[in-house]
Amino acid sequence: MANDTNTFQAIISHCKEYGFIFPSSEIYDGLAAVYDYGQWGSELKRNIRDYWWKSMTQMHENIVGIDAAIFMHPTTWKASGHVDNFSDPMIDNKDSKKRYRVDHLIEAHAEELKAKGDTAGADALIAEMRKLEAADDYAGLKTLIDEKKIKCAVSGTVNWTDVRQFNLMFSTEFGAVSSENEEDNKVYLRPETAQGIFVNFLNVQKTGRMKIPFGIAQVGKAFRNEIVARQFIFRMREFEQMEMQFFIKPGTQKEWYEYWKEARMKWHQSLGIPAEKYRFHDHVKLAHYADAACDIEFDFPIGFKEVEGIHSRTDFDLRNHQEYSKKKMQYFDTEINQNYIPYVIETSIGLDRSVMMVLSHAYTEEDLSTPEKADSRVVLKFPAKLAPIKLAVFPLTKKDGLPELARELMDACKPHFKCFYEEKDAIGKRYRRQDAIGTPFCVTVDHQTKEDRTVTIRFRDSMEQKRVHMDEVKTLILAEIF
Ligand code: GAP
Repeated sequence: MANDTNTFQAIISHCKEYGFIFPSSEIYDGLAAVYDYGQWGSELKRNIRDYWWKSMTQMHENIVGIDAAIFMHPTTWKASGHVDNFSDPMIDNKDSKKRYRVDHLIEAHAEELKAKGDTAGADALIAEMRKLEAADDYAGLKTLIDEKKIKCAVSGTVNWTDVRQFNLMFSTEFGAVSSENEEDNKVYLRPETAQGIFVNFLNVQKTGRMKIPFGIAQVGKAFRNEIVARQFIFRMREFEQMEMQFFIKPGTQKEWYEYWKEARMKWHQSLGIPAEKYRFHDHVKLAHYADAACDIEFDFPIGFKEVEGIHSRTDFDLRNHQEYSKKKMQYFDTEINQNYIPYVIETSIGLDRSVMMVLSHAYTEEDLSTPEKADSRVVLKFPAKLAPIKLAVFPLTKKDGLPELARELMDACKPHFKCFYEEKDAIGKRYRRQDAIGTPFCVTVDHQTKEDRTVTIRFRDSMEQKRVHMDEVKTLILAEIF
């Protein structure tokens, strides 16, 4: 059984062993911080994505969705501030040549102090770092590292460069035409999906005849050249975001910010995760576009960490796009007969982090030992609506007409939800395999089914079994997954 400190490692191994998540291009030893979703991981991810999409675009009459391209005109990223501001302070160790994110280096040192019992020293160090970060005081950060004699984990020396900013955007070349000036062909892989929404604000508003307040939602890939990419799918270089920009009248941002904080926290709890697993973290150092911001943090096995950001972005983005594109980004408000550039509240949640959150909460190791026999199981207790497979159908044996009846049940259910059919091995073994991938319902077709068309339905979490009519199975499961 895994203890608190190795639960995270156990989840990573489980994800690989049971077809959820694999290191990218693993046959070539993988690519750092890039992962592939396997057969069950991609179903889980799609279910979370669909649940978010539905809750935004179907449950809110004033929110519509779009699907913008990953490549955008390079000026987009000038206007958004990403070319100049989207960077992390970094420091290199001259001996090992290893590059560190300054906050990670200092945080690791604080952890060491804590482990030695110097909690006050660790807290003071973090507080000092936050103060210097908030003031963009890079020389001060370097002095702090020198004063505390923070060592490189590889070389063990304190031989550091100055602290420098390192831009996190990936760039590539666009088109086949070579240019004297490489910058002419340079495009970026978007570091957030939000800008695809901003540049389409007027297209959507006009063609959809949208009235403020209204929202535009989008799900898609984003790319960041994270320097210290670690912790499995928590910090990746290629990841997916689910973002929604809510366009509002200037001056109403405080109330809408509070509205979306509450609405998003409710959404998280609707995943079947209890309130105490979440907390808000207000930003002290605001991003270049925000006048208020907070994170929703989840209690991962590695501690409380951000899954979602809620940002009051003012009119920063639309105003800058207006300035750089020379195209008006205004909305005419018929209620007050005035033009204005709308303000924006953004909700931005990482899809991969949501997958990790749902997996972390679902992962359960159970000791089922009896005095006679040692036994245990690993079960993923996903809410039924998110489970990769909803129903597994097992004929007790491969003969006597049982597979035909099981196939009949499969055919009745598979147009409605994801089903799985299996004939091999003892029923107990088949149940355990489905527990390990989080299938909430298993149905066994046996000889009695031939007589009265009843089957045994087995519930994943309680392991309770009951006899129901074959024709009831579909309705029973449909009631659980919506
Ligand atoms: N448009 C605002 C924005 O991008 P952010 O806080 O930088 O804000 C939003 O990112 C969310 O995207 C985060 O809360 C996180 O869930 C996810 N995210 C950000 N960087 C990530 C990374 N490198 N790997 C996985 N998820 C990431």
